[in-house]
Amino acid sequence: MANVGLFLLVLLIITLQSMAEGFHKARLKLTEREITFPRWPLVEQMDEHLTTLKLILGSKDEIYAGGGRHLFRLNFQKNQGQTMVQRIPIPCDTVKTDCGITVMQPGRDGYPLFVCTAVKEVQQGTCCYKDVNGSTNCTSIYGGGEPALLTGEILYTTQSGVKDKDGIYRTRLYNVKDQMKPPSSRSDQQYVKIIERKLVSKLYAFYTEKNHDKDPDSDIFTPRVSQVCMADLGGSKETLQFQWTSQLSSRLSCGDPSRKLYYTELLDVAVLPSEDGADARVYGLFRNGWEMRAVCVYAMNDIDGVFNNSSPKPTKTLSRRPGECVQESRNLPSDLLIYMRNDPEMEDWVGPIGHSNPLLVSRSQYSHIQVGRVEGTEGQEGHNVLLLSTECGAVHKVLENSSDPFIIAEYHPFKPGTHILSMLLDSSQKKLYVSSNAEVVQIDLRNCNVYGDQCADCILARDPYCGWDRNQKRCSTYSEDSIQDVEDGNVHKCTDGPVIDPSTEGPQQGDADTIDISESSRHFLPCPVHSHHAEYRWMQGGEERQSIMDSQQEQLVLLIDGMRAEDEGLYQCEAREGDYRKTVVQYELRMSSAVGGLKSSPLALALLLLLLLFTLLR
Ligand SMILES: *[C@@H]1O[C@H](CO)[C@@H](O)[C@H](O)[C@H]1NC(C)=O
Ligand SMILES: *[C@@H]1O[C@H](CO)[C@@H](O)[C@H](O)[C@H]1NC(C)=O
Ligand SMILES: *[C@@H]1O[C@H](CO)[C@@H](O)[C@H](O)[C@H]1NC(C)=O
Ligand SMILES: *[C@@H]1O[C@H](CO)[C@@H](O)[C@H](O)[C@H]1NC(C)=O
Repeated sequence: MANVGLFLLVLLIITLQSMAEGFHKARLKLTEREITFPRWPLVEQMDEHLTTLKLILGSKDEIYAGGGRHLFRLNFQKNQGQTMVQRIPIPCDTVKTDCGITVMQPGRDGYPLFVCTAVKEVQQGTCCYKDVNGSTNCTSIYGGGEPALLTGEILYTTQSGVKDKDGIYRTRLYNVKDQMKPPSSRSDQQYVKIIERKLVSKLYAFYTEKNHDKDPDSDIFTPRVSQVCMADLGGSKETLQFQWTSQLSSRLSCGDPSRKLYYTELLDVAVLPSEDGADARVYGLFRNGWEMRAVCVYAMNDIDGVFNNSSPKPTKTLSRRPGECVQESRNLPSDLLIYMRNDPEMEDWVGPIGHSNPLLVSRSQYSHIQVGRVEGTEGQEGHNVLLLSTECGAVHKVLENSSDPFIIAEYHPFKPGTHILSMLLDSSQKKLYVSSNAEVVQIDLRNCNVYGDQCADCILARDPYCGWDRNQKRCSTYSEDSIQDVEDGNVHKCTDGPVIDPSTEGPQQGDADTIDISESSRHFLPCPVHSHHAEYRWMQGGEERQSIMDSQQEQLVLLIDGMRAEDEGLYQCEAREGDYRKTVVQYELRMSSAVGGLKSSPLALALLLLLLLFTLLR
């Protein structure tokens, strides 16, 4: 009797726990048991513990990874040869200490890569175009680092967390003297991303600024975007010479304005270009003081609109509007130049698209974001997919939906607890690269067979990259002939008919394994959990049997606590998701009279205790 009491208590705890977790959990957990993640170890090649690692796409299935004093070319192509982790020499190789990569950008003109290195505390850096054979074309720059942007021979860099020197810098390669600096001394800025907008010839920089305000009610951080004109040549000899004359900033708003609840620390930014190039979407990943994360989406046009139309603070009557791009900034009136020296900020904040709430709010400790798009076919809507890495080494694949984001899967390419340093999406190949300080792993976003081998499994996955191939009868890369329902995951699309009957899905009645259990002995029936959005239960003779969810092993366990004649029969583990039902596994139990069965009691009891312990400690 005590056993049953304990059992019910455990069930209660489990139910309460799953209610608290809510429905925003990943539908599938995908580990190396389900997928092989192609990976390249870096750690054997290094004598240094990396804290940053940047990834740049090379040609197909090829990645450049650089950090500290190390630069590698990694080839993830199948049937690869031996020398596919290639070390590329950088100028630091000749300098002993404190030298490291500061900038890494895609190259041009047959040079796939552009890399800058600098010795710490030295303002000057060396930048080189590099080809795969290590051949180079080098020049020096004035400093600054990532986030950076190379457009033609113009290199934009940023400086973060350097006292009085934070901001945006510009250098013309092969002409170190031609450079631009921030208009004022700033500290405690942390730059996250810089983006060029060719349409208006402006550059936008996204960053978090630490507040010096001692008011305990105000947030520690302010997230901001600032603009500079790409044609800016600096001010007159007297004011702002070689310094930005067009820099304006605005606050980014992400949160619930009605409750004055904001996410203020900008952690990462991803950009999704629009089809016509006109209005890209900017995805910001934020954190608040309670370790909550939020993703807000901004339209480039809205950002531009704030800089065009809002009035800058402090309000002042000036001879012309601040921040407009002009041909010759050196001739700007001095009242404007003097005003720009104080780093004006716009009155209006930049709000998310449609003034909406965050797209996603989560307790998962997200650190990086990438965004991909899957175009629809034949008048079908396309879909956006967010890829979010967590602080403990996992990656969430999330279907964007303004009302209800859906976590398609949680990938576990690393050991639990691994710190992810960077993430890069190859949109053309639909592959995601994720790096720790020890390795780079590739995740194929079109790995569709993991969802299962039934049409319903494929539809329930709601993965825009995948669809049910009716000819090959498998879940594979989405095409216009696929059966798919990303919006609702409606399994009726598979049959054009009524609810799928469990007797037609999964194992058939005759397939049940028979298990002989001796009288009075204990036995466990495991049922593997695939979808965390489904409800699993053990059924026998049309009745549900009490069972335990073993979250560690991801299985639903039915305990036969002393085999009796009434326990004989067919046991089926059934999964229900929406109105889809399926038999996952089934067993036929028979009582054998022989004494001392397969599973002896002490072992069964020990297992039960372990299960309880796991559940309670979770
Ligand atoms: C680099 O090496 C490849 C073969 O490995 C060769 O085809 C190419 O011509 C070389 N490029 C230069 C610039 O030497
Ligand atoms: C290589 O360097 C020269 C200047 O020394 C420059 O004119 C040329 O554009 C550079 N090549 C590339 C690919 O940038
Ligand atoms: C902002 O001003 C620029 C330059 O006048 C213009 O090209 C752009 O379309 C404007 N954008 C918005 C959203 O008003
Ligand atoms: C969002 O999801 C709901 C169902 O959860 C669906 O009805 C709706 O069409 C989706 N919206 C978009 C824009 O995909």
